[in-house]
Amino acid sequence: RPGKLLRSRAPLPKPFEARLVVPPVLQGDQIVQREAELRILPGLTTRAWTYNGSFPGPTVVSRSGRPAAVTHRNQLSEATVVHLHGGHTPAAADGYPIDYLLPETATTMAHHGDMPMGDVAKGSRTYTYPMAQRAATLWYHDHRMGFTGPAVYRGLAGFHLVRDDEEDALPLPRGERELPLMITDRAFEEDGSFRYPEGDDEYMNGVLGDVVLVNGLPWPVHEVDPARYRLRLLNASNARRYRLELDPQPPGGRAFVQIGSDGGLLEKPVRHDTLEVAPAERFDVVVDFGRYRPGTRVRLVDRDGGDVMRFDVTGGGRGDDSGVPDRLSAGAGPLPPAVRTRTFRFNRAANGMWRINDLEYRPGRALARPRLGEVERWRFVTDFHHPIHLHLNHFQVVSRNAAEPGPYDSGWKDTVDLRASEAVEIAVRFTDYTGTFMLHCHNLEHEDMAMMADFTVE
Ligand code: C2O
Ligand code: CU
Repeated sequence: RPGKLLRSRAPLPKPFEARLVVPPVLQGDQIVQREAELRILPGLTTRAWTYNGSFPGPTVVSRSGRPAAVTHRNQLSEATVVHLHGGHTPAAADGYPIDYLLPETATTMAHHGDMPMGDVAKGSRTYTYPMAQRAATLWYHDHRMGFTGPAVYRGLAGFHLVRDDEEDALPLPRGERELPLMITDRAFEEDGSFRYPEGDDEYMNGVLGDVVLVNGLPWPVHEVDPARYRLRLLNASNARRYRLELDPQPPGGRAFVQIGSDGGLLEKPVRHDTLEVAPAERFDVVVDFGRYRPGTRVRLVDRDGGDVMRFDVTGGGRGDDSGVPDRLSAGAGPLPPAVRTRTFRFNRAANGMWRINDLEYRPGRALARPRLGEVERWRFVTDFHHPIHLHLNHFQVVSRNAAEPGPYDSGWKDTVDLRASEAVEIAVRFTDYTGTFMLHCHNLEHEDMAMMADFTVE
């Protein structure tokens, strides 16, 4: 199993008591990383690591083609690293796992003993993102070497939405009818703090919590008009995969009209009854609640694990002039043929550590040196379940088990779900930036236990 269940010691609320909250949009360009007391469980507070005091952090909204600079200040007690997941960014701003941002209060740079250090900053760092990329649902999260799992679990994750003219010209639901939904699972200690089994080998396969949070609250409810809504679904869980369905299904099924994936709009919408969402993947879907009778309570459920949230369809609201056109985006067509193929095997060593091509992660050791502008075919094979993530460029899935890509492989991806004994081939073109970037498993416990590799674009 890709994970082990960790049970909460705190009394848990019943589902559907909390109201959904949409994370605030970042005003200005500063994010302060600090501890905050969150109200997640009734009657208790949860001391969390946050971006600007909230979990999820503030949503950064940026415009394609317009550079965005975000300054992070670290008021936590430990070093951090910020990665923009899905960002097409130069290496210096990519959040390489040893490019530490030390706390404002750190007295020494040698804080990490023998650990290798990259480009280290103290107190604050400005990450400059060119945003030379299309509209998409990105997210930012901590990426510190060996500690990404606990840091994200404690709350260091937020949305970053990119908008562009192509997408704005479509009649998609917007405003209150566009909802970013960050799905995570957590377990809680008796006093309400997050429970995470740091350093416990039993959880090497991944940590699964017994509470599902959507935008930081347990199994929330949201009232919706009988109209179309755009749901930007992000699985920000450390290890849990979801098989999402609506219950009841609308008459005729096919409740989820997928319009986008990790890297933005699909060429054409794809209709699904079920969405399988691995850690770090995004599914941008339109759901038409007008297909339900007013008064219907529509649960979003995980077929593998129970409730996620609920949508209560009301009788009113203004009309619905939104729609999903048959053609969403000009896309980019298939990439030209690859100039070379490389194989990456995701496996486990006898000592239990996770490895890629039999190597544990070591900063500075590149497993591949692709050349700028070239297209490569990368083959991922495994005997266990791993969501594989590539920094720098989005890719296309070209085959799954030597057959056509699966129903969840459409569009431009940055994370691909690889199940036990599967082989997936992707095509990727390395563009714009040379330097060192990451390829890794996005099960965060696997990532922290060395299932990462550098690749260097030359
Ligand atoms: Cu979302 Cu390298 O990570
Ligand atoms: Cu993995």
